[in-house]
Amino acid sequence: EIQVFCDQPTVELSPHLYGLFFEDINYAADGGLYAELVQNRSFEYYSLTNNRRGQGLHPLYAWNTIQRSGGHAETQVTDAEPLNPNNRNYVELQITKSGEVGVSNKGYDGIHLDQGARYNVSLYARAKDWSGDSSLTIRLESKDGSDCGSVRLQGVDGDWKKLEGIITANQSTDEASLLVTTSGEGTLHLDMVSLFPQNTFKGRRNGLRKDLVLALKELNPKFFRFPGGCIAHGSGYDNRYNWKDSVGDIAQRKPNWNLWGYHQSYGLGFFEYFQLCEDLEMAPLPVIPIGVGCGFRGNDFVPIDELGPHIQDALDLIEFANGPTTSLWGQLRAEMGHPKPFNLEFVCLGNEEHDTPDMRQRFPLFSKAIREAYPEIKIIGTSGLGAGIPIYDLMTKDNVYSSDEHYYMPPNWFLKNEGRFDDFDRNKPLIFVGEYAAHDHGRKNTLFSAISEAVFLNGVERNADMVDMTCYAPLFGRKGHCQWNPDLIYFDKRNVVRTANYYVQQLYGQNKGDVFLNNEVAMKTIGRPSTVSGQIGIGSWNTTIEVEKVTVNGRDVSPTNWKVLSGTYSDKDNHYYQTDKTATPAMSLGREVIDGETVSIEIRARKTGGSEGFLVRFGADAKGNGGYWWN
Ligand code: AHR
Repeated sequence: EIQVFCDQPTVELSPHLYGLFFEDINYAADGGLYAELVQNRSFEYYSLTNNRRGQGLHPLYAWNTIQRSGGHAETQVTDAEPLNPNNRNYVELQITKSGEVGVSNKGYDGIHLDQGARYNVSLYARAKDWSGDSSLTIRLESKDGSDCGSVRLQGVDGDWKKLEGIITANQSTDEASLLVTTSGEGTLHLDMVSLFPQNTFKGRRNGLRKDLVLALKELNPKFFRFPGGCIAHGSGYDNRYNWKDSVGDIAQRKPNWNLWGYHQSYGLGFFEYFQLCEDLEMAPLPVIPIGVGCGFRGNDFVPIDELGPHIQDALDLIEFANGPTTSLWGQLRAEMGHPKPFNLEFVCLGNEEHDTPDMRQRFPLFSKAIREAYPEIKIIGTSGLGAGIPIYDLMTKDNVYSSDEHYYMPPNWFLKNEGRFDDFDRNKPLIFVGEYAAHDHGRKNTLFSAISEAVFLNGVERNADMVDMTCYAPLFGRKGHCQWNPDLIYFDKRNVVRTANYYVQQLYGQNKGDVFLNNEVAMKTIGRPSTVSGQIGIGSWNTTIEVEKVTVNGRDVSPTNWKVLSGTYSDKDNHYYQTDKTATPAMSLGREVIDGETVSIEIRARKTGGSEGFLVRFGADAKGNGGYWWN
């Protein structure tokens, strides 16, 4: 029988210690979490000349012209009379010979359909110089040309008009296309051609992929950092994520290119992010750019005397989340269907900023304005990339709530850094580990990388008075479309693959304690081996323990010459070894145990350094073999 007494809790664990970091990288948003099945729905793609991956993109990417039954059309994308100033491009079909004429979209690697499932279809259409039937046929067609379901939409005329319908799939397939066709003749304009499954998370329109949201929910995350990452401050400041472009009617949102080599429709925007946070009970952590572009991509910045509108964007975001419905941005939130505030508590200023004079000048201007307008908002700053935490001094001076550190390092770094926070100054800002992942050989998700992350999290929990939040990065990777590995969750159009690293996050997220118990244990062991002797051992990585007191049957055999044990890892003896031979006899009873006799050994010790526990072994022989051990 072994009884272990842990005297007292030492560290309270933050209620939001484990959360998520979401960035639209690896097609995590469009073609990922966002359930839209049509790719390039508003014809806004263009070639990203500065990006190797995005060079093949163009306004008709993912689209084809349909000319069947003798029909003929010239197809082009134009912005001559746009749907609105934000959504400029649309497709124009000049149909000179009627038949079955229109366009088709192949989605993301083909559109997958489930037999019996219902799909919402919508588009904007306008016709000029028209003759013949003014209805449009929206049809889902499998790769082999068979019909998977269709709907006819009436009422196209000379002005932009939104048409909507529902299609029930009559078969399951993985590679369907969506066809929009007409039998009329003249000029047809189409924009915002959209197809959503009705079976989104919570059945929301403009919703999210249910299977992916459930994979997030199973992590039990307590916060959500979004929208990046590098895309938050952009490749050149003009490319930053402007949250105002991502809210309101989806047809009015202003798309942006994505520095990871594709495009962002912003259909999944700040409203949807806040709503997801509410649904999964996560604290929203929006990342606000601070007038400085991504340091890895040019590091351009807004002149100080032009910063005003950018600071105002930050303040308006807080109003959008929390403001009354009578306020400008609170009213928009209400119009979008959420009159209640989203209870925003934190904002992150900057992402992984480089330590430059421009950054140092601009950060305090944002934090000051936010504190003045919203003193209740907690400001999370940024310390930069890697273990050097170059900007922590600025964060300390600014007295931020916490400071965001990022590490993408080999597994051994995580093992060695289990004790990283042991010596952090408790008078400085808390730490937010806002991006991390162990990068093993080949940047694959390995069991070793996952275990090293777990070891690191043990150190985080021991230092939870210093480390307030942590999140793995990146979160999602779409099979065949990854710019970055490893990721936590991989998916294709139907499947979700949880990695070993995911299960570590889940283990810690689902089993987070309220407190971290002190390593100081009082251990009382009662047993009846034939002899009693024992030893105390230490684990790897320079563990040091201090032994205060040992009693055997109440007899004080407390050590004199071996009070402090220290050493390094040894491969001998199955990773367990005797640390101080002189200690062994002192712990023994010194005679055979009488049958029926109870022998009680009490050891009081504590670990004072290193990353591993200590071991106590006692039992049948002089080395303690055959007995019990406690780690
Ligand atoms: O997570 C991928 C990228 O890594 C993020 O966009 C950036 O913050 C970091 O450098």
